[in-house]
Amino acid sequence: MDLQQRRHRGQAPAHELPMSDWVFGYGSLIYKVDFPYLDREPAEIVGWTRRFWQGSHDHRGTPEAPGRVATLVPEPGRVCRGVAYRVEHSVFEHLDHREKNGYERHRVAIDLLERGESVSGTLYVAGRDNPAFLGPADAEAMAQHILDARGPSGDNLEYLLRLAGALRELGENDEHVFDLEQRAKARIRQRCSPGSGR
Ligand code: SIN
Repeated sequence: MDLQQRRHRGQAPAHELPMSDWVFGYGSLIYKVDFPYLDREPAEIVGWTRRFWQGSHDHRGTPEAPGRVATLVPEPGRVCRGVAYRVEHSVFEHLDHREKNGYERHRVAIDLLERGESVSGTLYVAGRDNPAFLGPADAEAMAQHILDARGPSGDNLEYLLRLAGALRELGENDEHVFDLEQRAKARIRQRCSPGSGR
């Protein structure tokens, strides 16, 4: 079968598919897919780790009371699992707007787990020098921060819980995210327990 035939059947090697690019999602892009895509599959990148270190002024918080959402930080040897989408170039206008609060496009090698292929693609990363960057904090303080924050896209807690659920479905054991999830849930249970006075 030649390339033309394989393309027609959707079997072309991922790097030969024209007029499109791959984008790697590791946060809300995993579970909130408000853009058209041509392909979607579980994927990994090497050398990055997910951290709730980015402030959100426009989705899960406000400029006065920012939420806390995921970004990636470099960590040699670490593997981060997420979802890769093959999108037409025009989709980046929407993604750039959605990720405008401190995230910048970055080129990265993406390992597509179903095709068993590595492709070059884009991800959105919020670096330490962006004005909304919050950085690390005590885990209990981060969990409480997430419980308290909300913005135009909804409760910050929803972001955390949906991301944790989506990572579980992907078979990703992200200790940082699951730890925050457990701490936030424990705080809710504490708040609701009889005698808590609230
Ligand atoms: C991403 O999901 O890949 C970027 C961060 C976010 O929107 O949560």
